[in-house]
Amino acid sequence: RLHPSSSGSLAGRHVLITSGPTHEPIDPVRYIANRSSGKQGHAIAAAAIAAGARVTLVSGPVALGAPAGATTVQVQTAEEMLNAVRAALPADVAIFCAAVADWRAASPADEKIKKTGDGEKPQLELVENPDILKTIAHMKTGRPNLIVGFAAETENVIAFATRKRRNKGADWTVANDVSTHTGVMGGDRNRVHLITETGVDSWPEMSKREVAETLIARISALLHDKAR
Ligand code: CTP
Ligand code: CA
Repeated sequence: RLHPSSSGSLAGRHVLITSGPTHEPIDPVRYIANRSSGKQGHAIAAAAIAAGARVTLVSGPVALGAPAGATTVQVQTAEEMLNAVRAALPADVAIFCAAVADWRAASPADEKIKKTGDGEKPQLELVENPDILKTIAHMKTGRPNLIVGFAAETENVIAFATRKRRNKGADWTVANDVSTHTGVMGGDRNRVHLITETGVDSWPEMSKREVAETLIARISALLHDKAR
């Protein structure tokens, strides 16, 4: 049997993927996080490995096992995720699937914040986290050839995601509706729209594994077209 990296449509390519949420500490026992199971990002890592790529998966805290064959780097915060992404470069393709917390506590408490007993509420000052996708997409040298972002929206999905693709400097954006009624968050199925410079491709609802395989097939086709 051939070694996986010696065959397959992504053989010889390095694919970098972020997955899961980030956890931003408030104090030693509390954190700020987005809802994210990591299922879609981990499925993309598995599909890229199956296609013969070398895969680095930078993952926030998830309940999933690391996909076999990937180099998995586990992180907690957005800053750690950015550092791990930078350390993993260069990459041919970078896919930013993580649900990164947009804000972190300005100064996390060293000790557990206690209730005062008189109903007084703690004041939580927030600062914005670095935008990992935007940072990497705007690299002057060493930018991955293809940058894919995700856009989880609850309304105006295609319009918001189209604007996000442009504003962040991504080549492609995978947009999905994560409204609670869709069951996408935490679930096994997804319905996405692939937004590229040439337009919008709406895929039928399928499993997250099939979304991953379809995305990896599209990426392979693009890289093979470019090489021709
Ligand atoms: N992303 C990132 N770093 C951040 C925030 C987002 O890399 N600090 C990436 C996500 O992984 C995703 C894309 O950017 O690929 C879009 O994330 P999203 O949260 O939908 O976009 P935001 O620009 O944060 O806008 P919003 O105000 O809608 O949250
Ligand atoms: Ca966000």
